[in-house]
Amino acid sequence: MIRQYLGDSVDLFSVIGAGVTVFVAFKVAISLFRFITTHFLASTLGLPANLKNAGSWAVITGCTDGIGKAYAEQLAAKGLNVVLISRTLSKLEDMAKEVESKYKVETKVIAADFSREDIYDGIKLKMNGLDIGVLVNNVGCSYEYPEYFGEVEEADFSQKMIHMNCTSVAMMTEIVLPAMVAKKRGYVINIGSSAGFKPAPLLALYSGTKGYVEMFTRSLYHEYIGRGVTFQYVAPYFVVSKLSKFRRTSLMVPSPNAFVRNALKTVGVQAYTTGYWAHDVQRFVHSFMPASMSMSMMQGARKKALKKKAAAKSQ
Ligand SMILES: NC(=O)c1ccc[n+]([C@@H]2O[C@H](COP(=O)([O-])OP(=O)(O)OC[C@H]3O[C@@H](n4cnc5c(N)ncnc54)[C@H](OP(=O)(O)O)[C@@H]3O)[C@@H](O)[C@H]2O)c1
Repeated sequence: MIRQYLGDSVDLFSVIGAGVTVFVAFKVAISLFRFITTHFLASTLGLPANLKNAGSWAVITGCTDGIGKAYAEQLAAKGLNVVLISRTLSKLEDMAKEVESKYKVETKVIAADFSREDIYDGIKLKMNGLDIGVLVNNVGCSYEYPEYFGEVEEADFSQKMIHMNCTSVAMMTEIVLPAMVAKKRGYVINIGSSAGFKPAPLLALYSGTKGYVEMFTRSLYHEYIGRGVTFQYVAPYFVVSKLSKFRRTSLMVPSPNAFVRNALKTVGVQAYTTGYWAHDVQRFVHSFMPASMSMSMMQGARKKALKKKAAAKSQ
């Protein structure tokens, strides 16, 4: 029947069909190979970078909780001294004591509010002279709940988020990069988000800031890989933390420690990663999801959050 209409062109369609099938099968096989190698075989094959070789200090922003705390502790466990930078001095001092006694490394604490832009001269001065091999630009903030951009009530919302999620990444990188380039060794790990992968309606500014982190980091990767400095972009899905408001772990929502254990194995292996094996699976599914579907899911989440807020107000 088809041949009656299309004649010999049906053979051409078969060839195109076979070609597409082979191409897709090849792409799937490569992705599967990468997924297994990165998340399950990297350590056995000795692929992850030896971060201690790049310098004796690691710097972590937003380090007293969640993902940043896990990076700080796990880098200290590898024998790196750590510069701990966060907002609250008392939390930093408690953490420094704990890290020093548990991992027998040196620490330096810097209290700084990354929602401001006048903090970097002070940070630079306090880190002067340290042999910094690793920078983890982790500090970041998101929305209290999904909301229309024009209806967010928080004061200075845009300015604070742009300073925390964007300015911090560029400025901290600017501070450590010259010395890393001079010694031709260094790792800069920038924490983005799955919200930067595709449009995230009702989290528009967060999505935009993380999209910036992705392009900034991936561009720098190509600029500096030949000069000895490795940039890595890490884009997690949900991880248990105050920011995510997830309190319990599940297959798809790891603890910060489990997440970072997996993510550190990808340094030197992948320039771009979700950081966690189950998040790679989520990213694959997410890649097929239209933004309109995200919008309706987020509208549901917004409704729920507004109800909760109203109930709390009336109590
Ligand atoms: N958790 C997730 O599901 C998830 C998913 C995707 C991406 N991410 C990204 O991962 C990064 C870390 O998120 P998280 O969930 O681990 O956060 P978190 O648990 O809320 O930890 C926040 C840390 O940042 C510090 N901090 C907050 N505001 C600060 C400010 N203005 N100045 C300096 N330090 C400040 C906090 O210190 P104080 O307590 O002293 O304020 C704390 O140490 C963020 O960039 C986030 O966008 C997280």
